[in-house]
Amino acid sequence: MRKQIVAGNWKMNNDLDASKSLVKKITKKLKKKSLKDTRVIVAPTFVSLQKVAYKAKGTKVEVAAQNMHQAKSGAFTGEISAEMLKSVGVNIVILGHSERREYFGETDVILAEKVNAALENKLEVIFCFGEVLEDRKSEKHFSVVESQIKNGLFHLEASAWDNIILAYEPVWAIGTGETASPEQAQEMHAFIRKIVADKYNQEVANNVSILYGGSVKPSNAKEIFSKEDVDGGLIGGAALNADDFIELVKSF
Ligand code: PGA
Repeated sequence: MRKQIVAGNWKMNNDLDASKSLVKKITKKLKKKSLKDTRVIVAPTFVSLQKVAYKAKGTKVEVAAQNMHQAKSGAFTGEISAEMLKSVGVNIVILGHSERREYFGETDVILAEKVNAALENKLEVIFCFGEVLEDRKSEKHFSVVESQIKNGLFHLEASAWDNIILAYEPVWAIGTGETASPEQAQEMHAFIRKIVADKYNQEVANNVSILYGGSVKPSNAKEIFSKEDVDGGLIGGAALNADDFIELVKSF
């Protein structure tokens, strides 16, 4: 059965010292907490990944990268490959975040290639997607989300879905302080689970964790996470503060 997950996306925040100190605080606070079926993940910047992964080893915190390149190696100045992530002890990668799609031109085609490269290297993928405000206003949000999932993931075999985590992040709610209502989140998450079941089968759909992202904070997490098809959150701003982040972990 699927796990509950709280994943902190630190984005371009925290230098090496701040990253080490944040992961230290989080691991310490979680030490005595029984997490049962909950996974806790943090995603620092590339420069801090190795140290954070080292500090998190043997704790209840897992470490993810925020991005990677689809090629194995070569002339791709400034990029990092899946193999390189593995070499520093990272086993999870976030792909398709709306900021990557919007500011760095990541298309569905590129993302499908990145997903393949990640899975070939035995990385677990947190795959993000979500509609912009105009899509929602014009009631295209379901079709936009469906096409992002279809183009990024539906070429995969059912067995590959053991290593996929979905993250629905309505772009209008990211970093804006605006959140989808728990009902809006549930409605979309149920839709997502249904299209996965239709494409594959009910077992694949039931086993995949679907996270909600977009201004989740301690004050609204409980209500959102209590929805049947919401299996946790991908958290930006509130993940930068250890106390807030731990509150989110306790929200299930
Ligand atoms: P936010 O970011 O929690 O700051 O809205 C979420 C995300 O982009 O993953």
